[in-house]
Amino acid sequence: MFKILYFDSLDSTNKYVKENLSSLSDKTAVVAKKQTNGRGRMGKTWSSCETSLTFSYLVNNIKNPASSAALNAIAVIRAIRRLFDVYLTIKWPNDILLNDKKVCGILCESRHFGDGFALISGIGINLSGKKNFFDSSGLSHATSLPFTEKKREALLFEILKEAEKIIYSDFKDHRREYISNCINIGREIRLIRQSGSERLAMAVSIDENGYLVCKDGDEIFIVNAGEVSVRGINGYA
Ligand code: BTN
Repeated sequence: MFKILYFDSLDSTNKYVKENLSSLSDKTAVVAKKQTNGRGRMGKTWSSCETSLTFSYLVNNIKNPASSAALNAIAVIRAIRRLFDVYLTIKWPNDILLNDKKVCGILCESRHFGDGFALISGIGINLSGKKNFFDSSGLSHATSLPFTEKKREALLFEILKEAEKIIYSDFKDHRREYISNCINIGREIRLIRQSGSERLAMAVSIDENGYLVCKDGDEIFIVNAGEVSVRGINGYA
């Protein structure tokens, strides 16, 4: 069971958890109605409208934080599918898509804790956002789940319930479920490094650590989530 702290506004729920790590107890979730400086992966910012669900949760005693984002993606997919009748996919490593557009982003950060790690999982889900919000924020690749904010609380509880079940497990035990939901597999992709350099490849699988297995001609290689962003060759996915 999670303890949940609610705020009207924070700069970033991930930042709040990191700054208060020593005083927050294991299994605490921090929800903010509004974030003034939401953070995304690879140093990007995360903008969301006030109807969205933005929260971070803390769990201690995680052995391998490297695959936590992928496990969270499975938890989010399971929770949304249980509550709503929508077909969602995962864009590797942990974007959740509806009709090839992003509805949810996940940012996991960790700190050493005892023999393992404290894991901060930040989850942002677009709920009933208007198209002009995404267009005017330069987020034409994003969309929203078509549910009103009245469902926000139910969604939060369901995600935390699924996360609690899956977050301590080994990615390899959920690899098949991840692959069956991953939109990139079997597609041509662009791998974009932080430097801006790009490489085209075919996404062929996900390995037991959650790394993306790619093929370029005769060469098979793996990439990890910290290294690259992935795009489809003709669009976001
Ligand atoms: C991404 O797709 O780049 C990850 C986005 C993660 C956004 C969430 S919203 C709640 C939590 N607080 C943050 O500042 N970021 C995460």
